[in-house]
Amino acid sequence: MFYEPRKKNHSLPHDPFKALVGPRPIGWISTLSKEGVPNLSPYSFFNAFSDHPAILGFSSWGWKDSANNARDTGEFVVNVVMKSDLDRMNQSSAPYPSEVNEFEAAGIGMVPSTFVKPPRVEGVGAAFECKVTQIIPMTGHDGREAAYHLVLGEAVGIYIDDRFITDGKVDEAGMQLLARLGYMNYAAVENVFSLKRPTI
Ligand SMILES: Cc1cc2nc3c(=O)[nH]c(=O)nc-3n(C[C@H](O)[C@H](O)[C@H](O)COP(=O)(O)O)c2cc1C
Repeated sequence: MFYEPRKKNHSLPHDPFKALVGPRPIGWISTLSKEGVPNLSPYSFFNAFSDHPAILGFSSWGWKDSANNARDTGEFVVNVVMKSDLDRMNQSSAPYPSEVNEFEAAGIGMVPSTFVKPPRVEGVGAAFECKVTQIIPMTGHDGREAAYHLVLGEAVGIYIDDRFITDGKVDEAGMQLLARLGYMNYAAVENVFSLKRPTI
């Protein structure tokens, strides 16, 4: 089959787009509002885009609280999501109003960060403390405004739970990193294999 995304002429009951761009890592974003209310929500339009400097970003449909707070305060924390975090991560995606402390509402503990004000999630395998570098209002090829805003930030500090460092490496399979697929589907990293790059 072939379809044009703008026309949605795929004739399938559900939009296949996200199923084809997967697995997507999940950035579990903690922020503080300018009034200081803690906020926590998962974003799978999320990735790293540079390692020197370490730039990560998430994309918000409209101005959700995480994007608003990152814009207002210039800071956010990306918490890495493991399979064991599935239920609490999902709970934190509920549409709580902005004045609600989403850590409290979802029964999730907070741990102070080192360089930024938003806390990280208690018990996570890793977290990136980020300072906002750019907020990009995306457009389509015709210049028409997209509904999404891309929030980019530089990780100025990175926390790793020492339990997940084995023989000098991050134990990716041990963390069972969680990823989003299409529809309501998820995947967890459970089998890891290595491959050397070719030389010429
Ligand atoms: C796994 C997962 C991934 C999500 N990814 C996104 C995303 O990339 N962009 C987005 O706008 N919403 C995404 N959502 C929905 C938001 O998490 C949800 O709207 C949340 O209430 C936003 O909270 P906030 O207003 O506190 O930022 C996702 C939800 C889940 C469960």
